[in-house]
Amino acid sequence: MKNIVILISGRGSNMQAIVDAGIPGARIAAVISNRPAAAGLAWAAERGIATVALDHKQYPSREAFDEALAHAIDAHAADLVVLAGFMRILTPAFTQRYEGRMLNIHPSLLPAFPGLYTHQRAIESGCKLAGCTVHFVTAELDHGPIVSQAAVPILDDDTEDTVSARVLLEEHKLYPAAVRAFVEGRLQIDGLRVREQR
Ligand code: GRF
Repeated sequence: MKNIVILISGRGSNMQAIVDAGIPGARIAAVISNRPAAAGLAWAAERGIATVALDHKQYPSREAFDEALAHAIDAHAADLVVLAGFMRILTPAFTQRYEGRMLNIHPSLLPAFPGLYTHQRAIESGCKLAGCTVHFVTAELDHGPIVSQAAVPILDDDTEDTVSARVLLEEHKLYPAAVRAFVEGRLQIDGLRVREQR
């Protein structure tokens, strides 16, 4: 049985999709949030999942927070760390510690539009496609080996909200499938490429 620890900062809809997928051979060992009021924490607690709130504002530095976070993750013997709307820049020491066993979902077709406001930037750039990417986390923000992507059209009358909603539906399918592939040992990292055995 593989232990998954999910990190969130907000509503946690991707976390919910992964929990609801019921991935065979895996258990959600804990959900951790850097924001104590995150709606996703209450959702997980209601389902009997262990939850941890670690308020980053209570720590003197990014390093100190990341150390406390690693401590909380390791207390749940995580085989896989899943970032699901976890809105924190991570220190290199932290990303190295979980290299090859930490995934993130980003709402763009990486390497286009790393960082924030991805849908608005895609619309303003005249892109005809938007999408989402599941990738392994490395020290460089939103740049790790890509596991999977899904694309959706950007239509003439789209706004940030309509694109975001269309992409989110894809995120909820893409992320559980990627987590499942990891749990089943079907992902092989080769530089920036990830090969998935099907
Ligand atoms: C998602 O769009 C995800 O791609 C991004 O932040 C958002 C989180 O949404 N990293 P949720 O908390 O999973 O609902």
